[in-house]
Amino acid sequence: MVYNGDEVAPVEKGGKFELISAFTVGKSRFLRQNAIWRETHKKRELMIKYCYFNGKFIRENRVGISPRDLGVLRGYAVFDFMRTEQGKLLFFSRHFSRFKNSARELGLRIPAGRRELERIIKRLINKNHLREAYIKFILTGGVSGDGISLKRQKSTFLVLADRQKLLPQRYYVHGVKIITSEFRRELPAVKSSNYIWAIKEQEKREAKGAIETLYIFQGQVFEASRSNFFIFRGNKLITAGDGILLGITRGFVLELARNKFEIEERKLKVSELKLADEAFITATTKRIMPVVKIDGFKVGDGKVGEKTKWLTREFGRKIKEL
Ligand SMILES: Cc1ncc(COP(=O)(O)O)c(C=O)c1O
Repeated sequence: MVYNGDEVAPVEKGGKFELISAFTVGKSRFLRQNAIWRETHKKRELMIKYCYFNGKFIRENRVGISPRDLGVLRGYAVFDFMRTEQGKLLFFSRHFSRFKNSARELGLRIPAGRRELERIIKRLINKNHLREAYIKFILTGGVSGDGISLKRQKSTFLVLADRQKLLPQRYYVHGVKIITSEFRRELPAVKSSNYIWAIKEQEKREAKGAIETLYIFQGQVFEASRSNFFIFRGNKLITAGDGILLGITRGFVLELARNKFEIEERKLKVSELKLADEAFITATTKRIMPVVKIDGFKVGDGKVGEKTKWLTREFGRKIKEL
């Protein structure tokens, strides 16, 4: 994290994180704390982490996945991704039911129930000395003798835990740029491990200073490569209703917005992008991130809009109460 006036540095005090910024504590204390944090962080990143692999807690470097696993051979795998908020798992039941749905769609069996998964996550967080964590479940088609037949009982199951990384505060203060790409995900409601297009587009995204790729297909807007997409037009909050991954953040944002704005979950046309007053993307890691530029054009007046700001505040307040 480099000091540029609007970054924040996490300071750990008795196992709890406090966020400081140069504005709140002054530049020199900020730089000192940031340096300490980076050093500790580097050491922690170098530590070999524990994960849960097919029934056991083992170090990540001990994981042995067969080269004949359908996840490796064919990309036949699903996952889900969640995070903690103030040390508590956020929206666990929603993530679990989406994970179950993804597994069901691909004919895979999750080898643990809800309660057991919660226990696994808690143990993993402790074993890796994490407070605010990202958790990832991965379930693959498992080993297949002929490389194409699926044996439901042989799925490979992994749970990974990572330290939560904060995204630069300037993304939220000034908004971000995204670019569009003609693409539509296969089996969009399934959180499959196939991110071929997202990875292929990464270099282009970086070269253009964009942080996300918005998937558009035959004149319709769907979702972004790792987030859902919304626009405001007047008091209407519009987002694609179909052909997308039903993001957990998206669902919660819609619940918050319902009392305040008119909601339209429907086909969103590419031609509507230029008419938007405001736009934002949502995801577990990004929360609500304002979008101020799409390809070459500005969204609205090119500044973070008041309605997006209201939703962001509401979101921040409400998740703390959960
Ligand atoms: C394709 C896609 N759409 C939407 C999302 C947002 O989902 P969530 O809010 O559950 O993180 C993601 C997140 O990874 C994604 O990969």
